[in-house]
Amino acid sequence: MTDNPKSPTGYRVLKPADLEAAHGLRAFALDVLNGLSETPKRLSSRWIYDEDGSRLFSRICELDEYYPTRSEAEILRNHTEDILNRAGVDALDIVDLGAGDGRKTDIVLEAALGQVKDVRYVPIDISEASMQGLVKRTGAKFPRLKLGGIVGEYFDGLHWLSHGNGRRNLVLFLGSNIGNFNKVQARVFLRQLWEALNDGDQVLIGFDLKKDIELLLAAYNDKQGVTAAFNKNLLKRVNRELGGDFDLGAYRHFATYDVFSGAMESYIVSLKRQTVTIRDLQSTFEFEEWEPLHTEYSYKYLQRDIDDLAAKTGFRIVEQYYDNNGWFTDSLWQVEKPSL
Ligand code: AVI
Repeated sequence: MTDNPKSPTGYRVLKPADLEAAHGLRAFALDVLNGLSETPKRLSSRWIYDEDGSRLFSRICELDEYYPTRSEAEILRNHTEDILNRAGVDALDIVDLGAGDGRKTDIVLEAALGQVKDVRYVPIDISEASMQGLVKRTGAKFPRLKLGGIVGEYFDGLHWLSHGNGRRNLVLFLGSNIGNFNKVQARVFLRQLWEALNDGDQVLIGFDLKKDIELLLAAYNDKQGVTAAFNKNLLKRVNRELGGDFDLGAYRHFATYDVFSGAMESYIVSLKRQTVTIRDLQSTFEFEEWEPLHTEYSYKYLQRDIDDLAAKTGFRIVEQYYDNNGWFTDSLWQVEKPSL
């Protein structure tokens, strides 16, 4: 290597943090380049969640119209005791995939501390900064709780856990995060989860259910415009991190329900013919008047879809918990690995 005259060895060992930073930025830039080059244009909602996006998502969860958070909190308040009883062990690792701001997880942790002799909380998150915040907050709220957070990819973390100790895992995948995967992605994700876990481990998955379309439309088109700001945060992030010049006032948020696929679909629509330049991509992109940019799918499920998904990925459904409106369900699954 000739570009590093200061290195006496002639090569450089990249620290994981350097690699993560470089890779993260490159992955974002590549995805933006690909997505804006396609017809129809698209940008994945996974990039919404920087600091501003995460804050806006917390505000969405407080909105009257956004029922999923309240529905799931109600389920957890009413049924966590039963969920923990069904784990049926004295020593349990509660593994959290995508804890968010963790308020729903708190309901589970509080019950577990009263009910399970030896409980450990294991959040898994790719971001060290998020992990620091989460560990600090949870440690302060539950000083008696054993904490063992893992900074890494979900499946690396799970493999490490499952093969490192004999403890039973209860994996939480809450908040209908599964709904942001399409049906194939959901199947692949759950099969990978199954592979990473041991026979008898359990998974609690939050699914948003199909319901009156008016309720769905209101949840993704709130009156205060928080969801619109959340969605447009994608453009803000491109401007800030990649040197884009999106004029946010020249686009509108639009969310609609596809009755065939069963997904709420979110778009950003261009209000006029315009050209966007993104400095770091050394590229410009043309938008026609009313041209849509697809940003998010939020799939809604029927119980039949959930049964089918469990059967196809190697899980047995242990119990199905609903809120009183029947709008949301937390589905408790158990890993079945028959010894061949
Ligand atoms: C995180 N995810 C499950 C939310 C959803 O409902 O798809 C994100 C969201 N998008 C708009 N409102 C909330």
